[in-house]
Amino acid sequence: MTLPAWLRFLELSLLAGWLAWRLYSGGRANHAEAALPFLAAGASIAQLLLEAQAATDPFTPLTQVLPVVLGSVYGGLSLAVAAVALAAAFAGRVRAVPSACVLLVCAAVSSSVAADAASAAASSGELAMSPTLSVPRSALTIQNPYANDPASAERGRAIYQQYCQTCHGLNGDGNGPAAAGLRIRPATFRNPQHFLAPGMDGAHFWVVQYGDGRQGGMPAWQGTLTDAQMWDVVNYVKVLAGGRPTASSGSSPPGGSARPQ
Ligand code: HEC
Repeated sequence: MTLPAWLRFLELSLLAGWLAWRLYSGGRANHAEAALPFLAAGASIAQLLLEAQAATDPFTPLTQVLPVVLGSVYGGLSLAVAAVALAAAFAGRVRAVPSACVLLVCAAVSSSVAADAASAAASSGELAMSPTLSVPRSALTIQNPYANDPASAERGRAIYQQYCQTCHGLNGDGNGPAAAGLRIRPATFRNPQHFLAPGMDGAHFWVVQYGDGRQGGMPAWQGTLTDAQMWDVVNYVKVLAGGRPTASSGSSPPGGSARPQ
């Protein structure tokens, strides 16, 4: 059993124990018993965080994944379980038996859909890049035909300056002149862990091809750029992220030392 599955088991046992205690203790309030819903709330939160982390690649920060997982049935129910359990633990007047019943049902349902929400995303579904952008995991297997080719990145520089820089900024920091007018903040490319990780070339090629499908977000470039041009620009993005400098990057290194604009 995985750690989140153990936590789910613990959480359901705690809630069932709490319900049984209340039913058989003749309704007398007891300070010690508040510990049970409190622990169940903790188990629910811990499980949610672990599932959220499992739902994406190890390079995407939890803060980006969490909104996606919270938006799923599993995430919503887990949060509800934690909130109601904390309320029951701290507000003495909340009636224990009905809230324990509600919590048990919510926790059981959320456990049974956890597989769809997070685990499915981890194994076959989508890779969350941001709250508004996810990429099919299959994109991770697309091979970069110009990997480690400085000439490709160098061609990509011109394409970047023509098509991408207005939003993503000269140095890829996400602060181009057009960024302020967008509804979604352009991604920063100054994140070597994310952009240089194995397999991410394919994911970024996919993003450049299809965009995020949102108004005021990342446009789709398929149709405007050829596949070769899209690979070139992906390779240049890797240079901006802190990869090898291109063969003829000359006087304006795109990485660390250059100033925006
Ligand atoms: C109109 C503004 C705009 C232009 C032009 C633009 N982008 Fe984007 N781009 C965005 C926004 C906004 C996002 C964040 C999308 C999201 O999170 O939903 C983004 C995200 C990305 C990402 C995903 C980064 C990640 O988190 O993994 C890549 C890669 C990318 N853009 C590459 C490019 C390239 C290459 C070009 C030029 C061919 C380009 N973009 C042009 C706005 C733009």
